[in-house]
Amino acid sequence: MKWSKVLLFSLSSLLVACNGGDNKTNIELMPDMFDQVSLKAQDWDPNKDGKGSQLVPPQNTVPRGKPYIKHMEDFSDAEKNLTNPWANDFTPEIIELGKKKYDVYCGMCHGDSGNGKGAVGLKMLVPPRNFLEERVVKFSDGRIYWAIVKGFGTMGHYANQVRTEKERWAVVNYVRTLQKQSQ
Ligand code: HEC
Repeated sequence: MKWSKVLLFSLSSLLVACNGGDNKTNIELMPDMFDQVSLKAQDWDPNKDGKGSQLVPPQNTVPRGKPYIKHMEDFSDAEKNLTNPWANDFTPEIIELGKKKYDVYCGMCHGDSGNGKGAVGLKMLVPPRNFLEERVVKFSDGRIYWAIVKGFGTMGHYANQVRTEKERWAVVNYVRTLQKQSQ
């Protein structure tokens, strides 16, 4: 009994003592992930001539930041100061994109025609905004954009559903076409 303990102790201290000195790596019992080319974020990558080690995001990656809205205080600030880079772009590309997103994420409350009477909207205590009302027609593009990215009152935001700048402004432009159609 006693001897086996001594044996166990000396065996385990052998394993622990496998240190090759300060400048050498220890003996690697299971080297799986040890030998990898890990680089620090700001390093140069020796395998990509002259390039930094940071990987470029995969294609079609969508940034989660909100560059257009960063300096805005609230919807009235957006109303005045947020400009639509796609203003008056009613080309099929934009309008079809806007319609696609609107029908999925807005129509059930605001109505497919924008009249605020979507199936879900009708059941809400605070009714969704009727986009065809004159007062709302006068909202600036920036204010509608704000509602998508930040929400408004009892309406939650849709920044995570309508994700790119282009999609958001396309929804705004699509709302404009609904308003025009109703006049
Ligand atoms: C779950 C239902 C619902 C969905 C989905 C929804 N909304 Fe709303 N929305 C509302 C309600 C309710 C209000 C009114 C909130 C209030 O007055 O407190 C509102 C208000 C608004 C306003 C008025 C903001 C203002 O400044 O007065 C805009 C613009 C708007 N929504 C746009 C959208 C757009 C665009 C989408 C799709 C991306 C969308 N909403 C999706 C329910 C919804």
